[in-house]
Amino acid sequence: MSLEAAIERLHAASRVAVLTGAGISAESGIPTFRDAQTGLWAQYNPEDLASPAAYATDAKLVWDWYAWRYELCANASPNAAHEKLAALERRTPEFLLVTQNVDGLHARAGSERMVELHGDIMQARCESCQTRFMLEAGFEIPPHCPICGTRARPNVVWFGEALPRRELERAQQAFQTCEVALVIGTSGVVEPAASLGRIAKNRGAFLIELNPLETPLSGFADASIRAGAVAGLGLLGL
Ligand code: APR
Repeated sequence: MSLEAAIERLHAASRVAVLTGAGISAESGIPTFRDAQTGLWAQYNPEDLASPAAYATDAKLVWDWYAWRYELCANASPNAAHEKLAALERRTPEFLLVTQNVDGLHARAGSERMVELHGDIMQARCESCQTRFMLEAGFEIPPHCPICGTRARPNVVWFGEALPRRELERAQQAFQTCEVALVIGTSGVVEPAASLGRIAKNRGAFLIELNPLETPLSGFADASIRAGAVAGLGLLGL
């Protein structure tokens, strides 16, 4: 299916669902998960730090890694791809942006109808009363709950943990009912987010993928555009 068809379908659609992954923030200078880590953290595999087992073994190590990523995200700015999606939302009657990213850049670019499936790196969550609270620059490690004083963990979903149920249902509903699904910058290997594009296509939606590399979704998509997020959205007329 041609790029022209993708442009036509996207611009005519009144129900659009978008899924983003780490690739959309690459052009804001935030390394993707599959990229090698740099500096101090080069020796660690992210999958061995973002897990309940890692936290149980060495909470300080895990928090040090999150504090480093917190700084990276706090100092990054949304790029044109985040902004283009916020603009697409404003002109689309039924719209949902589902992101696997925890960097908060979509919200900072103005996205509102949005689900953060994997949480928010700017927040911590009390291990006892579950209170969520914003972390300030230079926060103490580990942070403690402002209500009950118990140690708090990063407010993100780790490998092996369930996704928040309401957010996942909202995401699935949007992908089941959209006319056009747009999947941007995700390797498409971490479930259940990886299935959202397939769900949409199986329900008759037009599926567009934007990724510089081929993914498991590429052969299944109606249009698979080999480009970075900013250039690819430009090719789609956004
Ligand atoms: N524009 C668009 N896509 C890009 C760009 C870019 N400029 N640069 C890289 N990519 C693509 C890569 O080709 C890759 O397919 O972004 C994808 C990034 O893949 P991952 O690092 O696996 O990120 P993601 O798919 O978001 O990971 C899903 O896995 O590690 C867990 O919970 C973590 O949310 C994360 C989830």
